[in-house]
Amino acid sequence: MAESLCSSTRNPFTGAEAPAAGLKVDHVSKSYGSLQVLKDLSFEVQPGEIFVLMGPSGSGKSVLLRQIAGLESPTAGSVTVAGKDPTAEETREQVRLALVFQDGALFNSLSVYDNLALYPREHRSGSEREIKDKVMHALNILSLGETAPKFPSELSGGMRKRVAIARALVMEPQLLLYDEPTSELDPVMAATISEIIGTLRNEYKVTSLVVSHDRDLALSISDRVGIIMAGRLMSLGPPSDLKDPKDPKVADFLNPRIDVKNPRFKHIQTQDES
Ligand SMILES: Nc1ncnc2c1ncn2[C@@H]1O[C@H](COP(=O)(O)OP(=O)(O)OP(=O)(O)O)[C@@H](O)[C@H]1O
Ligand SMILES: [Mg+2]
Repeated sequence: MAESLCSSTRNPFTGAEAPAAGLKVDHVSKSYGSLQVLKDLSFEVQPGEIFVLMGPSGSGKSVLLRQIAGLESPTAGSVTVAGKDPTAEETREQVRLALVFQDGALFNSLSVYDNLALYPREHRSGSEREIKDKVMHALNILSLGETAPKFPSELSGGMRKRVAIARALVMEPQLLLYDEPTSELDPVMAATISEIIGTLRNEYKVTSLVVSHDRDLALSISDRVGIIMAGRLMSLGPPSDLKDPKDPKVADFLNPRIDVKNPRFKHIQTQDES
């Protein structure tokens, strides 16, 4: 599973070489005003590992990804990526990190093709011909070849999500952060995305932190699963732990029982009942 920081292998989709990069979250807390979202979170993701992070809506998963991607700084504690501060300008040049945003975060004014070509053009990685080969290859892997000239507003939600993943492949990252990569996708496309994440790790040793509610993904490709609830890490262990969670709150999150007689939402009394 874990590889040394110096291991270098070929990206099966683009042919690029890069060492995997691990990350460390060390006693991280994050507040917005009086709202504390992340509460003293600590864990590490080893180079080449697939770590899946699960947790209820609003528990702080996307906020945590933003701290790791260096888009924001924690209020307390620290994050390091390959031993470096992800907010530092030089880290961005030294460590290739890609974040696949929950909503895709595509540039609406650019075509799908130009969204994907933006990063390699800015970093002058190859001729326009080479960039075209990479972009079309990534789009074809995700069955998106036809969408190259289209604009994001012309695509379905699931297509936009796949374009965001294709854009990450073109960036040839050492560390990939995915925010709900399989939500909004049909079961076959969701399985394809899980296979891509697994293949990137197996053949290229790319490190992957995957925020997901997809149990099939977690059970089939993850090395470890962390569960975050209300900003705290509630459990951390192998995916087999998902089958028999020890903590009752985690068990209720993973296997919620639907009980119409005792609903979770506040019951509004009707006139007849009062
Ligand atoms: N920039 C911000 N300013 C203030 N509060 C924020 C900000 N970003 C997120 N929050 C709050 O932080 C909490 C966690 O949000 P977050 O987006 O991380 O949830 P999540 O676990 O990703 O949920 P979901 O599964 O629905 O995507 C929410 O209460 C949200 O309102
Ligand atoms: Mg989120």
